[in-house]
Amino acid sequence: MEEELIGIKNAALSMILDTQSQKELEEIKLQFLGRSGKLTTAIKDLAKLPKEKRPEIGRIANEVKETIEQAIAEKLNTTKSSTLKAKQEGIDTTAPGIEPKIGHLHPMTLALYEVVDIFKRIGFEAADGPDIETDYYNFEVLNLHKDHPSRDTQMTLYLDTRGSKANPGEIILRTHGSNMQGRIMEKTKPPVRAIYPGKAFRYEQIDASHGFEFWQLEGLAVGENLTMTDLFGTMEYVVKEFFGQDSKVKFVCHNFPFVEPGAEAYMTCTVCKGKGCSFCKHGGWVEILGCGMIHPNVLKRVGFDPEKVSGFAWGMGLSRMVTLRYQMDDLRILTNPDLRILKQF
Ligand code: PHE
Repeated sequence: MEEELIGIKNAALSMILDTQSQKELEEIKLQFLGRSGKLTTAIKDLAKLPKEKRPEIGRIANEVKETIEQAIAEKLNTTKSSTLKAKQEGIDTTAPGIEPKIGHLHPMTLALYEVVDIFKRIGFEAADGPDIETDYYNFEVLNLHKDHPSRDTQMTLYLDTRGSKANPGEIILRTHGSNMQGRIMEKTKPPVRAIYPGKAFRYEQIDASHGFEFWQLEGLAVGENLTMTDLFGTMEYVVKEFFGQDSKVKFVCHNFPFVEPGAEAYMTCTVCKGKGCSFCKHGGWVEILGCGMIHPNVLKRVGFDPEKVSGFAWGMGLSRMVTLRYQMDDLRILTNPDLRILKQF
């Protein structure tokens, strides 16, 4: 009996300690001291005890009752005064709490995930490659030998190799995602289907449509009997999935030393829907990617037999695609940390 009473006291006290509300305190009072409360029932049971034990247990029961009553009264006082204080200070304790601000992914990342998903649906695997690259993988393996005039268009950023084993000019920041072509083909037997999104770096004058670092999504496929139509079909599928089925794509001949034949793809301007506006320099079309059939010499260099396998490769300007999708007229918006911009996505 004594233990039961002590148990009741401890339970009541811990509940009183835990609560901050007057209403709950009233409930606790009822639960223990009310007509059918735990303590009241225990006291009623005193009658069942042998006569000689009753006074001692009765005394303990009274002590427990007083302790609980006192604890409730004290707690009631403090909660009343803190609510009063809050009211005096103009704090509305019933106001809803401050919602924590939750961030979200950057529009560039969102677009990246989306395009990667589109390619994955048609069997491409995503790979990652180095930003710091050797002259060999960025140029040499891709038919861009040391004195090739196309190197001029690549505006290369060279790393200082003093104090290292590398020859001067050998280590660079990759100027395009195509550095992965050699790396992937050397390691994988056909059929190969790979995409490699990442940043490219060029020594460019920065303006609305040029940055010194920008995102590209390049990729390739190698296998038996792959043709230009596979390349065009793949590119058109991805562009339509990303920009909407009503967007049109056209291919125009273009020279890239590592593909033969090579092409550039244009899509209908997202701003004017092809009518012509300042965004597309009034042509109605905007360039979005370079592509072509992998040059036989490149295939040979990585150990493939161009008589047996063929392949296509492409490089999409991913930063470009994002600006086109959201009709941003300046590439620099993508690297602007202003939350007023970022909150719109
Ligand atoms: N690497 C080229 C660029 O950065 C794009 C490209 C990739 C073109 C693959 C053809 C084939 O412009």
